[in-house]
Amino acid sequence: MARAGEGIGFRYPWRHRTAADKRNIDIRAEDGVKPVLFYYNHVLVLLVAAVRATALKQVRLRMRNTILVTGGAGFIGSNFILQQMRDESVAIVNLDKLTYAGNPHNLESVASDRRYEFVHGDIGDRGLVGGLLEKHQPNAIVHFAAESHVDRSIRGPEDFIRTNVDGTFALLEETRAYCSALSDETRKRFRFLHVSTDEVYGSLGPDDSPFCETTPYAPNSPYAASKAASDHLVRAYHHTYGLPTLTTNCSNNYGPFQFPEKLIPLMILNARDGKPLPVYGDGKNVRDWLYVEDHCEAIATVLHGGRLGETYNIGGWNEMPNIEIVHTICDLVDDAAPPGPTSRRKLITFVKDRPGHDRRYAMDARKIERELGWKPKATFENGIRKTVRWYLENEEWLRNVTSGSYRQWMATHYSS
Ligand code: NAD
Ligand code: TYD
Repeated sequence: MARAGEGIGFRYPWRHRTAADKRNIDIRAEDGVKPVLFYYNHVLVLLVAAVRATALKQVRLRMRNTILVTGGAGFIGSNFILQQMRDESVAIVNLDKLTYAGNPHNLESVASDRRYEFVHGDIGDRGLVGGLLEKHQPNAIVHFAAESHVDRSIRGPEDFIRTNVDGTFALLEETRAYCSALSDETRKRFRFLHVSTDEVYGSLGPDDSPFCETTPYAPNSPYAASKAASDHLVRAYHHTYGLPTLTTNCSNNYGPFQFPEKLIPLMILNARDGKPLPVYGDGKNVRDWLYVEDHCEAIATVLHGGRLGETYNIGGWNEMPNIEIVHTICDLVDDAAPPGPTSRRKLITFVKDRPGHDRRYAMDARKIERELGWKPKATFENGIRKTVRWYLENEEWLRNVTSGSYRQWMATHYSS
């Protein structure tokens, strides 16, 4: 693992150990080459071997279809990387700041794969981003990195502006510089895909048609506003500088690896533990839910076939009021987890509404279906069943992500 400011190059910190080890030298490379101990008189032979291993890795990364993923340690980014790594021709460089929402354990199964590289850093660090582009020469950037939780944006919008707006701007600027140095042929193949949300369109009334790509933007939360700003920047970089961009706007996702501050994993966790299930307002706010693997396939579809400068709406054609989702989760947890004294539905607690709470989102995903042939595969019944099972079976993952700062968030947010 490399850190911000170090780039992701091979480092050779010669470190002599104890007197007994005096003739041993420890080569450490934090980008995947294992530490090697060897005798001093063999030093040249083995040093060459270690350097060559890294050099070869770089050559392999360049020869392949290399994607720079930002925010790949988060919920959707992890799922996207795991899906992409199934294709042997793909190499991934994952740039992630590891905020509270980023979890490198999500990617344990690919961590030692020579086609995968993790870089700990901020998309706003232009030196780092420029160095990564220069070094890895990716043919695509898929930009997930963001602050993504509406409730947190209401309590503290600043981080949302810093990452979602300033961070996207920095990434676009470095990408523009990178693109301008590419050969015509390579530039023609390059893509910048920006992952965005349905929340930029605002809120629908009960009888309104779902959002389509031409619906005017009307963001209502600081999160939505910051994403809207980033969408506009991406659009402008295509229009003004000819950057080969694509934007996807997706509805609410659910599935494995989602941080349990969002509705579905929070309810599963609390239901399992017999804790109150806090439903905002009257529970009748409507969201359009999509299984995360379907979203990741849609992103890959747009990346390969989308028209430059276009936006594509992605959704599950699956509108549901929150209370119905919570009932379904209660029933599934009742079936799967050791039976409590009563139905988990009894744990539902209506709490004070979220300020400015959007009433209804729904996506018209006909453009991506018509132009690129994508439609969701998972039904909500199957997707939610798999999701509940995943959270109940991944006790250790939950324990890891629900430590200090998580408990503090829950205590502060749900006490008021
Ligand atoms: P997430 O909060 O789970 O993950 C975000 C990731 O970005 C984390 O790994 C975090 O460490 C990283 N990150 C944050 N700031 C960073 C920075 N400055 N530099 C580098 N990395 C940084 O989010 P998610 O749910 O996986 O969402 C991913 C993207 O998809 C976001 O852009 C979000 O707006 C969009 N989206 C999400 C949903 C959804 O339902 N979750 C729906 C539509 C669109
Ligand atoms: P969330 O998962 O935060 O996604 P978003 O706000 O991006 O749609 O919330 C989904 C819906 O669930 C939203 O209408 C707010 C509601 N909600 C609750 O009722 N209780 C909760 O504890 C949370 C986190 C969300």
